[in-house]
Amino acid sequence: MEDKKVIAVVGATGSQGGGLVRAILNDKNSEFTVRAITRDPQSDKAKELAALGAEVVKGDIDDPESMREAFEGAYGAYLVTFFWHHMSPEKELNEARMLAEAVKDAGVHHVIWSTLEDTRKFIPLEDDRMPTLQEKYKVPHFDAKGEANKFFTDMGVPVTLLHTSFYWDNYINFGMAPKKGADGNLAITFPLGNEKMPSMAAEDIGKCAYGVFKRGEEMIGQDIGIAGEHVSGKEMADSFSNLLGKKVVYNDVPPEVYRNFGFPGADDLGNMFQFYRDFAEEFGRKRDIEFSRSLNPELQDFNTWVSRNKDRIQVEE
Ligand SMILES: NC(=O)c1ccc[n+]([C@@H]2O[C@H](COP(=O)([O-])OP(=O)(O)OC[C@H]3O[C@@H](n4cnc5c(N)ncnc54)[C@H](OP(=O)(O)O)[C@@H]3O)[C@@H](O)[C@H]2O)c1
Repeated sequence: MEDKKVIAVVGATGSQGGGLVRAILNDKNSEFTVRAITRDPQSDKAKELAALGAEVVKGDIDDPESMREAFEGAYGAYLVTFFWHHMSPEKELNEARMLAEAVKDAGVHHVIWSTLEDTRKFIPLEDDRMPTLQEKYKVPHFDAKGEANKFFTDMGVPVTLLHTSFYWDNYINFGMAPKKGADGNLAITFPLGNEKMPSMAAEDIGKCAYGVFKRGEEMIGQDIGIAGEHVSGKEMADSFSNLLGKKVVYNDVPPEVYRNFGFPGADDLGNMFQFYRDFAEEFGRKRDIEFSRSLNPELQDFNTWVSRNKDRIQVEE
């Protein structure tokens, strides 16, 4: 135990970080051990991680000193930010800069920054195929993460840039489960056209990240992407129909309709799905399935994920 290298995990009680914590601690022969960073070491989720064998420490991204302390002596760090907790790309940029400085100062040897594309490199602000949001962004929760890559690279942090994918868990946690429409059909609704969306089980992000840490040195300086499957709206609806035992259809809507659905962040997500649709080739090329499986041999495809989670998907009839 004493000889094991410590991986400090931001968001350890959440989806991405939690997957990494479990991947490391479930591998009894791992060369690594976990330092789980949480705002509340006494929470049930934090106690669960402690019971699995994690060192649990207090850290709050709004308290930079606490994060600096949390990285002291760590070999590795998994860094994620929490856009949907505040929905401010400026705040996310500041958080990422602070995290980059903190891991640099602590001398962490291998950092994984959980990132996404800066979509403005594909569709500049003046391109009116997609509205500009918050004056400076196309897809705010993507753009800030992509822009933040430079903090790590400019500071010379030994980083792997890990481009993640849409979680299928959004069907459970993010209000995206099939819903009954005006025509009486259960439907999933996205402005994806007929394009395939690289996407994955959230738990597999952590497992892939574990694969990156295991490969070690060779991954430093790499800019990689992961997905469990590239799957179209119709294919997802067909899987739901087959595996949930209820007919589900795919409802393709124009991005401007999705942007106006009225829930917080609908404009950001409408632009995101349009980006998936309009830049499907480039976005997919970055997220090779066989590469992802080489990092995580247990990688799930969509059917496997639905089969394992069907009791948790609350269809709204
Ligand atoms: N949903 C998707 O499809 C998707 C896909 C790709 C990327 N993403 C990105 O993933 C990110 C979120 O990651 P996630 O889904 O793993 O998060 P999550 O499941 O929402 O959980 C995040 C964890 O972070 C911790 N946390 C929240 N605020 C914190 C703070 N101020 N300081 C320290 N820790 C804090 C919380 O732990 P404690 O309560 O224990 O402190 C929480 O358990 C977002 O930026 C999102 O854009 C999402």
